[in-house]
Amino acid sequence: MGGNKSATSALLFILLSSGILHLETIQLGSGCQEAERKALLQFKQSLRDPSGQLSSWVGEDCCSWSGVSCNNRTASVIKLNLNNPFRDSFGSFEDDAGHELGGEISPSLLQLKDLEYLDLSMNNFTGFQVPEFIGSLKELRYLNLSGSFFSGTIPQTLGNLSNLLYLDLNNFLDQSNQIDLEWLSGLSSLVYFNLGGADLSKAGAYWLEVFNKLHYLIELHLPNFNLSSLLLSFPSLNFASLQVLDLSNNGFNSTIPHWLFNIASLLSLDLSSNDLRGFIKLRSCQLGPKFSTWLRNQTELRTLVLNKARISDTISDWFWQLSLTLDELDVAYNELRGRVPNSLGFNFPAKVDLSFNNFEGRLLLWSFNVTKLYLRDNSFSGLIPTDIGQNLPFLTDLDISFNF
Ligand SMILES: *[C@@H]1O[C@H](CO)[C@@H](O)[C@H](O)[C@H]1NC(C)=O
Ligand SMILES: *[C@@H]1O[C@H](CO)[C@@H](O)[C@H](O)[C@H]1NC(C)=O
Ligand SMILES: *[C@@H]1O[C@H](CO)[C@@H](O)[C@H](O)[C@H]1NC(C)=O
Ligand SMILES: *[C@@H]1O[C@H](CO)[C@@H](O)[C@H](O)[C@H]1NC(C)=O
Ligand SMILES: *[C@@H]1O[C@H](CO)[C@@H](O)[C@H](O)[C@H]1NC(C)=O
Ligand SMILES: *[C@@H]1O[C@H](CO)[C@@H](O)[C@H](O)[C@H]1NC(C)=O
Ligand SMILES: *[C@@H]1O[C@H](CO)[C@@H](O)[C@H](O)[C@H]1NC(C)=O
Ligand SMILES: *[C@@H]1O[C@H](CO)[C@@H](O)[C@H](O)[C@H]1NC(C)=O
Repeated sequence: MGGNKSATSALLFILLSSGILHLETIQLGSGCQEAERKALLQFKQSLRDPSGQLSSWVGEDCCSWSGVSCNNRTASVIKLNLNNPFRDSFGSFEDDAGHELGGEISPSLLQLKDLEYLDLSMNNFTGFQVPEFIGSLKELRYLNLSGSFFSGTIPQTLGNLSNLLYLDLNNFLDQSNQIDLEWLSGLSSLVYFNLGGADLSKAGAYWLEVFNKLHYLIELHLPNFNLSSLLLSFPSLNFASLQVLDLSNNGFNSTIPHWLFNIASLLSLDLSSNDLRGFIKLRSCQLGPKFSTWLRNQTELRTLVLNKARISDTISDWFWQLSLTLDELDVAYNELRGRVPNSLGFNFPAKVDLSFNNFEGRLLLWSFNVTKLYLRDNSFSGLIPTDIGQNLPFLTDLDISFNF
């Protein structure tokens, strides 16, 4: 027994001196640093919170308040997730009446020295600007202000967040004010950027130069961006890591620029014109010979979305061969012609939308694995095979209307 007891004290000693037990003590204790608790309360006080989203922000342990996460070891606040889950689109507030936070962002946030993650998305800060001091939250890795309806514009100080990896500013302003992008060049670690809905109509061509300097960028989302034209040539192209490029629903009225076809790392290119209000904005683009040459070589491409792009072309066999390596093919609402070869076999993408074109061929002889197949308004012919269920065992959606 005595031996056991001394073994226990030895263990206790080791735990204490190694700091392991110290960690436990903090977890079991109040779990929150007093200065940070006060800072959060101050932050709460300056906010508008009509539906009491922050009503759990009482008591000593601020690490257990809703939306707050702390580092287990140091008990400092590292994450503040105040995303409003009641609104999941940028449209109406109807279903979400009163759930959004608003008001002023208190500079007491600066007390949270280790804050790495800040999500204020889908709230309504109309009448208040994105505060300049956000640029002093040096440890931020993730900042999400999407759909948060701030007024004014982007503070230049955001460019000081050199550790930032994710920056989501999709529809973050309440009005589409002019935005400049010089500050972006300071965000040298950025891997994800979304500036959908911003008005860069006066920015000219330099915006592309700015993104081009962000060497780690993997995803760039610029939908509804109000760019009327892309640079047609771009010799200094340098997107070394870019995998996802979303330029959907811009007001392009030009051919698709050639430099797009030199981004070797690209896996997903979205030039569709889908937008929340249903406008058709991508106009008069043409699949020129350079596009075909580029596309032919994209063996890594997984998603190809080119709908409502007003593309007018005859699609030949190489295109169908290429499509076999895709997971999603969407070229709906174009003026594409050509015969889908019967020989395509079993490897068509899981999701295929060829609707509203002029494709021909025998219906439904392809694709064993397809789950969603939209073929309406084309010139496909032939009878629907009676054993369709056997041929397409994974099919969940099928539209073959308006063919003959
Ligand atoms: C820290 O806490 C989080 C959430 O309580 C938990 O998921 C994670 O595993 C913990 N990490 C360590 C190292 O204890
Ligand atoms: C946001 O809040 C303001 C009042 O502060 C209100 O006028 C405005 O309509 C709200 N925005 C939306 C999209 O509901
Ligand atoms: C930002 O928040 C929105 C809405 O909550 C979400 O849809 C989006 O995925 C988030 N962005 C990132 C990069 O996580
Ligand atoms: C932050 O950015 C502003 C504006 O770009 C600049 O004037 C300031 O010196 C920067 N502060 C720090 C600490 O880097
Ligand atoms: C797009 O830019 C034009 C000016 O070129 C401007 O009149 C229009 O309001 C902008 N639209 C949006 C949605 O930003
Ligand atoms: C597109 O550009 C052409 C000439 O480049 C012009 O004639 C046409 O009006 C433009 N269309 C729109 C909708 O702006
Ligand atoms: C296609 O890929 C091959 C092999 O990677 C390369 O040699 C060739 O230059 C590429 N062609 C075009 C047009 O990009
Ligand atoms: C289609 O399904 C077969 C059998 O499940 C599988 O072997 C094949 O890899 C699949 N093809 C694709 C492109 O997913």
